[in-house]
Parts: sequence; structure tokens; C-alpha cells
Amino acid sequence: MCGIVARAGFGDAIDELLAGLQNLEYRGYDSAGVAVRDESGGISVCKREGETDALEAALEDRRLGGAVGIGHTRWSTHGAPSDANAHPHTDDTNRVAIVHNGIIRNHDALRSELRDAGHEFTSETDTEVIPHLVAAALEDGAGPEAAFHEATERLAGSYAIAMVVDGEDTIYATRNGSPLVLGIGENANYLASDVPAFLEFTDRVVYLEDDDVVALDADGYQITDQDGTPVDRTVETVEWSAGDARKGVYSHFMRKEIDEQPVSLRQTVDGRIEDGRSVLEEFPPEYLDDVSDVVFVACGTSYHAAMYGSTLLRRRGIQATALRANEFAHDPMPVTDRTLVVAVTQSGETADTLASLRAAKESPARTLAVTNVVGSSAAREADDALFIRAGPEIGVAATKTFSSQVAALALLADHLETGRTAQSEDREMWPDTTEATADGGVEGTQIDELGTLPDAVETVVSDGSAARLATQYAEAESYFFIGRGVGYPVALEGALKFKEITYEHAEGFAAGELKHGPLALVTPATVVVAVLTGRNDERTLHNIREAQSRGAPVIGVGPASATEVRQTVDDYLEFPDVNPNLAGVLANVHLQLLAYHAAEIRDRAIDKPRNLAKSVTVE
Ligand code: AGP
Repeated sequence: MCGIVARAGFGDAIDELLAGLQNLEYRGYDSAGVAVRDESGGISVCKREGETDALEAALEDRRLGGAVGIGHTRWSTHGAPSDANAHPHTDDTNRVAIVHNGIIRNHDALRSELRDAGHEFTSETDTEVIPHLVAAALEDGAGPEAAFHEATERLAGSYAIAMVVDGEDTIYATRNGSPLVLGIGENANYLASDVPAFLEFTDRVVYLEDDDVVALDADGYQITDQDGTPVDRTVETVEWSAGDARKGVYSHFMRKEIDEQPVSLRQTVDGRIEDGRSVLEEFPPEYLDDVSDVVFVACGTSYHAAMYGSTLLRRRGIQATALRANEFAHDPMPVTDRTLVVAVTQSGETADTLASLRAAKESPARTLAVTNVVGSSAAREADDALFIRAGPEIGVAATKTFSSQVAALALLADHLETGRTAQSEDREMWPDTTEATADGGVEGTQIDELGTLPDAVETVVSDGSAARLATQYAEAESYFFIGRGVGYPVALEGALKFKEITYEHAEGFAAGELKHGPLALVTPATVVVAVLTGRNDERTLHNIREAQSRGAPVIGVGPASATEVRQTVDDYLEFPDVNPNLAGVLANVHLQLLAYHAAEIRDRAIDKPRNLAKSVTVE
């Protein structure tokens, strides 16, 4: 995790660095710091525990002048959040300052070696070895660029690093397993962990590759490989604007992003459905036709979207499994050259998911990244990429990307089924999902119904009922979420969102599983939130009654037409009737709002919940 930013240009760097850090805070907010090469040529560092606001307050009495600088916002991995552990880190003589995102695995060995050579350390971080390594090389007579090369060659682990050296106008940077993007501006050039850091200054970017080394100054940049040989990288234009990544009138990004779902879903689906079938221009017509089975790998909310997607695939007769990426990476399941391993990751930078993707790349399986970020590591490393087009998501709690991931996976399911139908492959369907469901809903290949989903989401986001229920049930001891079919991943997601931003005890269960243990925890002080989709709801109704007979109040979240459920539950969050395959997306929007309002009542740091970060780039 962590966010790094660097700027070399004309005029003072400090304001642009601070703006960059504010926009990267979703990557971590344990501390923030900057190092600027000041007018005298020396390096001035200012860093503070806490959010960027604390750093800005410290800088009020201490103006850092200078056109070249680096900045960092931290999510702690080695050493507690503190001023001392905050980046940038420097060597003993303050000649070199470094910001780093990632983990240096061999830092213990390097630290002992450097200590033996007389270097003194002031932090508990893995990062601090880097400026000392560079300083040692400088002392031995190397120039800054060569010293940077020498130092980074010694590192094992994952990193994106940027460095300033006293007396130098050039910033040096490199990456290995952690994201780093170059921004090419008019008055300055930039480097950052992610585009929002500099998007208000330029939309021209280069997504750097592992082992690229960049030398950046006010006039331009040069990219080389580790041996110093120049490499060519494409300059791309970012399609979303800086305004997309701002809060605007909203008090939280999360609320803004919940409300954006009708628009983001339209973006996901637009141009991808023709004559009632999905058309994914990313894939040539027969490209995925020989896929026999699909293995999804993902973490957190993306894992829940993957579970949802795997259910949709299975309902179309395609063998599909969703696995937690942190498990698959080091304990993979058997695959063949007809297996498609799909990494579902909003950021495209989640280390666990990338580790799974890399494990799959070593196997005969084909790989696909379903991601929101063009140019992300997942998009580049997988054989193919399917972009969910949700637009930037800044709030740490994933919201609109979940809906777009599910929509993209629904499109993928339809695409895969089309190919298999074309091959006339016999599929064992049990039960036949094209039959009418018990509740009267009809399922099958109605992919064009995806096009109506944004309007239905619009109805949910403008419904104030979740806010009322968040207040009504604010005193509960625990919140249990139950669901079946696609309602099960939605129940897990509802619980994740609730615990993540309210800090209350919340768990998700498969509805039928409640009676196999969790029911022992159900009391009148436990709120049970039941997700209904219009498919097998009569079974969930039994589970609702099981909870109610133990005194628990039950909130149902389901279609408008589910009369019996509505009459049974204590409260009901309704959404328009849609195909049961898509109903989970609507239920989930209600659950996002429930969590949001519950967190608001408790005055939580909704966009930056404690101990978490948006992009988890460490395993
Ligand atoms: C959920 O609100 C979290 N932000 C988290 O679970 C997240 O979904 C997970 O870390 C995976 O992130 P990714 O989609 O960027 O891979």
C-alpha cells in the first residue's frame, strides 16, 4: 500500500505534492511526509504521523521552497504509525531522501550489513535501508543514477521508489511489483502510485513496467531498463477528469460513489449488448469458446463479486469456482489449458490477487483480468483484460465497482455461454435454470435486462428507508446478513461493508447455514438482514422465521412483489422487480446505504476506516 508522488518542474513543488498526497490518501493515512530539494540545493524533509492535514498544519509555519520534491502517504507494514517511521527516509547525512511503496523482504540483512559499516538508523521501517544503500554507493564515488541502480539491485521484495538527492534537479524512480505512473505536464512532470495524484495537472501518462528506471526533471524524462538501456513506453491519455475524483457536494466519497452507480453501471454495459447477447469487443468471436471451466481469484469485495459471477456462470451450465486469491496463490487448484483463471480486482494492484495471477501464468491455464484500472498490473500481466469502466473509486469501501464487476461478469457469463452454444456442447443443467422460479420469476439468458439495471439502481439510491433503519437498529449488538444463491455473496458483502465502516460486529452467512451453528448467536439484540432475490425466497423465509423465533428482528431486502416475505419480516427494504440473477445488485445498494448511514450515526471515518487502505499492495 502507501502512496508515493514526485514532482520536478518550474515553480515550487510543495502545493502540488500536497494535492497529490490528498488524492492518494485512500492508499493509506497513517502518516504523510514530503522532501523538497530547496533553493540552497539541500534537502528539507517534513513528515507527520496522521493524515495529510497534520502535515499541512506542520508546514504552515515552515514554507518548503523548491521545484523538485517527493511525497508519501503511509499504510504501516513495518513499524507503528509515528513521525519517525513516516516517509521520506534519509541517510545519516541527509543527502538522499526516499519514498517507497511495497515491502523490502531482505531489509534485516541489509540493515545489519549497513550498521556494521557505521550507518545509523532512526526508524523501524524496511524502507530506511534504501537511502543508506544509495548513500554508501555515493560515498564510493558513484553518480546519483548509478548509486540508485546499485541500491535497487540489492533489494528483494516489492517496491515503487522515488528518490531526490541534494544538489540534483533529477528525480530517480523505479518499480517492481508496486504501481508507478508517470505524468507528463506543461510546467512539471510527475510520478505517482496512481493517476489521481496529478490528474488536475496533466492527463498524459505512461504506465511504467516492472524494472523500468525513470530519470525525471522539469524538461522531460528518460526511461531505461535496469542495465541503463533506453526503453520506449506508450504515452496514453486518461479518459476521466480530475473532477471525477473529487467529492464535490458530498461529505464522503462513499456516498458519492453509491449515488454514481446508475451512471457507472451504464458505462459498464454500454455498447456491450447486441440483439440480446453480450458483445465483448475485447475478445475475438471464438476466442473463449473452448473454455471448459472458470476459476475466479479475488479478495474482499471483489471476491464477493467473483462469487456472484461464478453463480451466474454455473446457472448457465459453465463450471465455475471463486477462490480467495490469498489462498489460491500458494495452494492452487488443478487447471488445464481449457481453464480460464479470472482475476477480479478493482485496482488491479492487489498483491494477493496478482500473486494468484502470476501462479496461474505458470500453469497451462489462460488468464483474464477483470479490473477498473487500465494500465494496472493485473491488466498488463493477464493474457487479456475486461475493463469494468466504473470510473475512479476513492472511498476505501468498494461500492460502485462491485456493481460494475457483477455486470461485467454477467456479460462474460453470457459471452461464454454463447460460445458453448455455438459448439453445441451438451451441458448438464441441474436444475434447469431457464424454468420459471418458484416465485414466478423467470431466469435464463436475459442479458439485455442488464440495460434496465441502472434505472432500478436509481430508485434504490433515492430511497431513504436505509437511513431510517440504520437509526432504528443502532443499538443492536450484532448484525447478521443472510442470503442464498446470488443473495449469499451479497450477504457477505453487506456484512463486510457494515463492519468495515461502522466497526460493529457484522457477519454474513448462507441463509441455510444459519441453523448449522450461527443460530446459537441469535438473540433479540441481533439484527438479521435477509437478502431476497425472487429465487428460492420461500426457503429463506424459513430461515427468517428461525431467527424471529429466537427474538431477533429481521430486515428483509427484496423485490417489491415479495408479498409473503414483506408480511413476515419486521422491516423491508424494497427494490423494483428484476431478473433474480440481477436482484442481488439492487439489494446490495440498499446494504451499502444501510452501512453508510450506520457509520454516519457513529461518526466514523467513512472514507478512511481505521487500519485499512484502498489498495492492498502487500501480501
Ligand atoms: C472493500 O470495501 C475493500 N475495499 C476491499 O475488500 C477490497 O475489495 C479488496 O482489498 C480488493 O481490492 P481490489 O478490488 O482492488 O483487488
